[in-house]
Parts: sequence; C-alpha cells; structure tokens
Amino acid sequence: MASLPHSRDAALALDQIDPLAGKRRLFCLPEGCCYLVGHSLGPPPLSASERLREAQADWQRDLVRSWNSAGWIDLAERAGAQIAPLIGVDTEEVIVTDSVSVNLFKLAAAALPLAARRVILVEEDEFPTDQYIAEEMARQTGAEFQRLAAGGGFGALSRGGVLIRSAVNYRSAEVARIDDFEAEAARHGAIIVWDLSHATGVLDVELKASGARLAAGCTYKYLNGGPGAPAFIYAARELAGRLASPLPGWMGHAAPFAFTPDYAPRAGAARFASGTPPILSLATLSGALETFANVSASALATKARALGNLVISRADSMGLDVMSPRDPSRRGGHVSLRIKEGYPVVQALAACGVMADFRAPDTVRFGLSPLFLSHADVRGAMDALEHILQSGSWDKPEFHARAKVT
Ligand SMILES: Cc1ncc(COP(=O)(O)O)c(C=O)c1O
Repeated sequence: MASLPHSRDAALALDQIDPLAGKRRLFCLPEGCCYLVGHSLGPPPLSASERLREAQADWQRDLVRSWNSAGWIDLAERAGAQIAPLIGVDTEEVIVTDSVSVNLFKLAAAALPLAARRVILVEEDEFPTDQYIAEEMARQTGAEFQRLAAGGGFGALSRGGVLIRSAVNYRSAEVARIDDFEAEAARHGAIIVWDLSHATGVLDVELKASGARLAAGCTYKYLNGGPGAPAFIYAARELAGRLASPLPGWMGHAAPFAFTPDYAPRAGAARFASGTPPILSLATLSGALETFANVSASALATKARALGNLVISRADSMGLDVMSPRDPSRRGGHVSLRIKEGYPVVQALAACGVMADFRAPDTVRFGLSPLFLSHADVRGAMDALEHILQSGSWDKPEFHARAKVT
C-alpha cells in the first residue's frame, strides 16, 4: 500500500506523481468546490458539454437527417463500445439503453428461462430498486421470489435461480468477488445479473475474465454521463443469442426500418435496446467517455483505493465508525462513515465547499472519483470534517432542514 500523506505537503507530493493528475483540467467544477459525490452524479467533463452542443447543432441544421448524417442511429452502440474496455468485455457485448432499473428487469426476465430453477434471488441490503424490480418480476412471471439476508447471495446460488447482485454495495462499498460467485453459479445452473452502478469507472472490473455473463450499470456516477444519463447492458456473446428481451421494442429489432410485424432480435447485447434512444443524453455520455480514453480501469482503481485509505486513516484518527472495508481490494470507490447526525454534518461540510452525501438513517458517503480528485483535495475535506465535528458547527438549525434529495 502506498504511504499515507500525513501532511498537506505529503499529499501535494503524491499529487505530483499521480499519473491521472492531468485529467482534472478536463472537468468543469465550480471554483472552491471539493466534490466527493461522483458516486452519485459525476461532474461534467468539458467534452460532454461539447458533444451535447454539437448534437444540438446537428438537430437544428440537419433535422431528421441527423439519424444518418450524424450517426445518431448507432450512438447507443458506440457509447457501449466506449464502456466495454472499462469493464473488460468486447465492444459488441455492451449497449447503452434505458435505466438500470429497467435493464435489471429485462436481464433477469431474459435469464429466468435459462436458469436451473425459476426463482429470483436478491439480498435485503441491495439498492432498493434492485429489490423492487426482482420482486415484481417474479410476481409477473410466476417465479418464486426469495429475499435473502445481507451477504446470503453466494450461498443461495446452490438453489439454481437468478440472482441480482451489486458488484459494489451502494452503502458500504463492499466489493463482491465476481469470479467466485460465477464459479458457484456455474456449478448449480444459476445465473447472476450484476449491478455495476458503483463499479464502472472506478474499479478494475474484468467481467469476461471473471466469467460474468450479464450486467447492467449506470453512467451518471463515475462515468460522468450527466443527470439521468442512460444506463448500459452487458450480455456475454455466448449467452446473448439465447436471450429474449421481455420488452422487444423496434430498436432491438434486426431491421427496424423494414417495419415487419414479426420480431427478429438484433445480434448480441443490442437486442436489449427497446425504444428510440435519447440522443442528446447519449451524445453527452459519449463525450464524457472520451475522458476515459487511454485510462486503464486498474489505474482508476489504484488511485480510488489510495484516496479511500486516506479517508479511513483520518476517520480512524477522529474515532469515527468506518462502515466500508479496510482492505482496499475489498472496497469500491467510496468510503462510508456511520455518523448519527450525518445529515446536518453533510450540510455543514457543503457550507465549507465540501460536497458529500447522506443515506438514511446514518450513512455519510465520500465518493473518491479518481479522474478529478487529488490527494490534497481529500486531505482538505477531512480537515473540514474534523473541524466541523470538533467545533460542533454542524448543529445549526439551517443544517437540520431536510431537502427532498439527500
Ligand atoms: C446500485 C444501484 N442500482 C441501481 C440504481 C438505480 O439506477 P436507475 O435510476 O438508473 O434505475 C442506483 C442509483 O443510484 C444504484 O446505486
């Protein structure tokens, strides 16, 4: 493990040798803002705004012709191809479409007929949408639904169903051992649908090498695709041809402009496209993904882990309760602390220019996006946290007023 910077100068020295340091200038961030919420909504890369402007200009100038002239019709696949190397898969195995929630439904429904048993499995500490989707999908298909105790997913694979599982837990940041899960699934005829929302763009996920066959993930967090940016689907080549989307819209058809009444799916992951793609969002996302060109997932993971180690060591010195794994190889891109008065603490941090987020009832999360954060940024944020906690300055009435989004 790289040594922890115990002073501001030491943090600055680490920034001097950081191979990703040059990426910071590719982002648009407000002056004086230390942004530790890239695990929720990444900030805009300059290239994202540029591609959005270009798409708007295409729309204005070429109107409907832009589907061909600007290549809009292939944009969902092109964005998928940009994501593929970050998750260790081939370009045609990824398509950008819909939201994570919708994609989990599509993948789990498509996997169900191929699993050894018609049972849908999900752990009780999964992100809520994963649980809602799993339960309703089971109800609609007549499959059995089993909500498992937290951490019970691996053991339940012996039941041979479809497990929806996060690669990185949204609350604790604990990382699943994808290869172990997949080996166990293969032994029992189970199929895993991975939720990569908190993994893509920050962890060295090697899906193909780990044996993963199906996954969905979001693009508005570490991939910086913009608010509500469309999600992606990965379907392994060997399996994709056997999968039928439960939402077979015309954009997943092999020949959408043949306008035939019968359905013929496209090859590969593209069969999971459904309706007309959101071009302005896709253009923004595709622009954002340009910032990842020539960046390896392992470089991202190495830096995120170093920043996480720094947060944990400072949290320890403040006597705070660390919820995330201490072993960096078992931790995703954020570090969570259990702080009873977490909500006003997060508001007090924001008042000092440090943005973190709060998840009820008592979780404060610090997202450690490796492309635009420096060691000095994170050290400064921890200094601010220490000051707020020691001075009690978080306990002001204005910091207790709850907003709709936390
Ligand atoms: C782990 C996880 N899964 C799913 C979602 C929801 O994704 P979407 O809003 O694209 O359906 C989120 C949102 O933050 C998430 O963190």
